[in-house]
Amino acid sequence: MLGFALQAQQLVGPGKAVDPYKRTSQKSGVFNQGAVASAHPLASQVGVEIMKRGGNAFDAAIATQLALAVVYPIAGNIGGGGFLLGRTAKGELLGLDFREKAPMAASRDMYLDKQGNAQNELSQNGHLASGVPGTVAGLFATLPYAKLPFNELIQPAIDLAEFGFTLSQNEATGLNWTKQSFQKYSTQVSAFVKNTEWQEGDTLVQKELASTLKRIRDKGAKGFYRGKTAQLLVAEMSRRNGIISKKDLREYEAKNRTPIRFNYKGNEVIGFPPPSSGGIIVAQVLNMLADRKLETLGFQSEKSVQILIEAERIAFADRAEHLGDPDYWQVPVEKLLNTGYLTTRMTDFTAGKAGKSSDTKAGNFSESSETTHLSIYDKEGNMVAVTTTLNGAYGSKTVVGGAGFLLNNEMDDFSIKAGVPNMYGAVGSKANAIAPNKRMLSSMSPTLVLKDNKPYIIVGTPGGTTIPTSVIQTLVNLIDFKLSPVEANSSPKFHHQWLPDVVAVEKDFPQALQDRLIAMGYTLRLLDSIGRTELIVIDAKGTIQAVADIRGEDAVAGF
Ligand code: DON
Repeated sequence: MLGFALQAQQLVGPGKAVDPYKRTSQKSGVFNQGAVASAHPLASQVGVEIMKRGGNAFDAAIATQLALAVVYPIAGNIGGGGFLLGRTAKGELLGLDFREKAPMAASRDMYLDKQGNAQNELSQNGHLASGVPGTVAGLFATLPYAKLPFNELIQPAIDLAEFGFTLSQNEATGLNWTKQSFQKYSTQVSAFVKNTEWQEGDTLVQKELASTLKRIRDKGAKGFYRGKTAQLLVAEMSRRNGIISKKDLREYEAKNRTPIRFNYKGNEVIGFPPPSSGGIIVAQVLNMLADRKLETLGFQSEKSVQILIEAERIAFADRAEHLGDPDYWQVPVEKLLNTGYLTTRMTDFTAGKAGKSSDTKAGNFSESSETTHLSIYDKEGNMVAVTTTLNGAYGSKTVVGGAGFLLNNEMDDFSIKAGVPNMYGAVGSKANAIAPNKRMLSSMSPTLVLKDNKPYIIVGTPGGTTIPTSVIQTLVNLIDFKLSPVEANSSPKFHHQWLPDVVAVEKDFPQALQDRLIAMGYTLRLLDSIGRTELIVIDAKGTIQAVADIRGEDAVAGF
């Protein structure tokens, strides 16, 4: 009887609080107890149900990430990595780095052929593309901040994997499009591949993934980094050209990083430091805007847009040269964030005339949004922003045989050769060269903002190099242009990353403004969408407004 009483009430199942076969989706809402904005309605619902059962925002972050690893295989993961930025109700900051690291057998030139040419195919697909996964270590490093036992936080994910869940049209299409790649880069048949095409309304059941999650439930982080899961992962590596070893897995650790903090027009912004470039880019750009009266220039006026474009160009040029894993490369953080330095840099451009990046060879932008962000807030005042990724869509497309989870293709975020663009067109050099155990540079930018030392904004997004841009523009839209949270999130975004020297604009970006930018000398490139921003704004009275990006199937839940 006691045992039964202690058994947590099942949260996921047909007719239960989270019904995997019923898809309801809410794009935004106003709540007062707690809210989650994530890429999938079932994952957001899991997070909120955990809070209703006594968990806080950290409990919800763990449960939501695990649920995403099941229902959002394109980016949710246990085979990838990410960053968690948190602030407890008492004001303690947590910067948790669970980024993948290069395997010990990795080396600087591992993706160069005999002639020294970069082979992006190898850094982007299949077994050799994967860094050592960090997500599970990240979940357990979050646990001390949570209130509920881990088995309660992981059970919803296990149930979602066993019951299966109903696929949307987009999810079915994503799996169908990737079928050949799954077959090419995996050595065994996985749950993602079936003989016929996936249809909207089909159920995706993941039994092997459920077993892996149960090992994590029962053995903790060792259920992933040691024992059967580690064996299966290393066996998968050995069937092809993979190099992740048992020692790599055993020695992986999440690291605590000191968040970047700065003032922007009376608000305290908190960002993620290296090995993400995100916090530095957000800080550099916002500092370059600090003395500009954007509000007076007007929302999406050619003047305010040009200032943002030129500030981004500068920040991304610095990224390419100076940013990498701080444990391997001395990142000049103070210099990069020095107000005098940034002010001087901003004097370089002429109003009304496009600046120019150097002619260095650079590639194209990727249009994908295959990372995922979750923003969570609870009534106690805990704030959590997590961005997590496999890198590209479905990562390396390698499913670990017998373990049912996808591996990342994060090695491509290193500069595999100086000046050679990665899949987001980002270039780099020594600072971000490959070395054993080093963490590859990221753009992920989970961000928190305080006003009068009280929670105000929780924001983040996928989108590769466009991530800091989306975060910056969402913040500027809220703080300078006073747009509503829904407008701040949904209004068309634009992006410059130094190289390639083009301004990417979303297809809904006003045509007249596009024409003006072209007249100034900018080269424009249209993108279907930039980012999938998950935003929570808390007003002075403590009312919580959660907004999921209209660009995807993202959803909020709250109470
Ligand atoms: O860490 C990074 O910056 C990339 N691996 C993020 C990838 C991403 O956002 C995918 N979506 N486009």
